[in-house]
Amino acid sequence: MKEYPRTPPGTQPEYLYKGYRSSVQRAPSQPLIQVPQTLSELTGPLYGHNPIGESDNDLTRHFADPPLGERIIVAGRVLDEDGRGVPNALVEVWQANASGRYRHSRDSHPAPLDPNFLGAGRAITDDTGNYRFVSIKPGAYPWRNHQNAWRPAHIHFSLFGAGLLSRLVTQMYFPGDPLMAVDPVLHSIADESARQRLVSSFDLSLTEPEWALGYRFNIVLRGRAATPFEDGRK
Ligand SMILES: [Fe+2]
Repeated sequence: MKEYPRTPPGTQPEYLYKGYRSSVQRAPSQPLIQVPQTLSELTGPLYGHNPIGESDNDLTRHFADPPLGERIIVAGRVLDEDGRGVPNALVEVWQANASGRYRHSRDSHPAPLDPNFLGAGRAITDDTGNYRFVSIKPGAYPWRNHQNAWRPAHIHFSLFGAGLLSRLVTQMYFPGDPLMAVDPVLHSIADESARQRLVSSFDLSLTEPEWALGYRFNIVLRGRAATPFEDGRK
C-alpha cells in the first residue's frame, strides 16, 4: 500500500493561533506523536452511505417553498494526492441561511430563521470524482471571538474518501469577500496559497442563465496539496 506525502508546515491551521481564541484553550501542550501510515490509515470502510435521496444535494428543495436568498450552484471534484478523481466519496455540507443564521438551538444571532431552509445536504461523487450542490448563498454572521468579530460567508464541508485518513472537514469561502482578510479561522493557516485553496472561484460555465450563479470548489483529500482541515466549529 502506497504511503502519501504529509502536508508541508504552514499549510494547515496552527493548533495554537492566538487570534482565534478557542484554539488557545484546546491546543495540545505536548509535542505531537506522528502516527505511521499503515494499512488501516490508507484503506478502510466507507461510512454513512445511507441511501442518498433525490433532492439531498439541492438545499432549495427540502420544503414545498424555496428559501430566500441568492441561489447558487457549488460544484467541483474531489481529488486524491495524485490528482485523480475520488469516486463514491460522501460529501456533506451545512451552512447558515441567507441572513447568517443556523437552524440550531445554540445560534442566538438575532437574524431571522427561514422556515424553508434546513441548511444541510449531501452528495456522492460520481465515477470521476465530481459533486454538485444547489443552495443559497449563506450570510455572514457574528461570533464572539473578539470585538466586532464576523465570519465571512462560508459553507462547511465534511468528506469521507476511501480511507480513514481521507476524512476531511473544511470550510469553503466565496471570492472577494472582504471579511476573509480579518478572519482568524482562515488566518490560522499560515501559508497564503493553502488559504486560497479554501476559496471557491466564480465559474460562468457552472452558472445557469436566469437561475443561479456557479462556484467551483475542488477538494484535495490528502498529500502536499491537501485542502486545509478546519480546526474549529464556527
Ligand atoms: Fe459556520
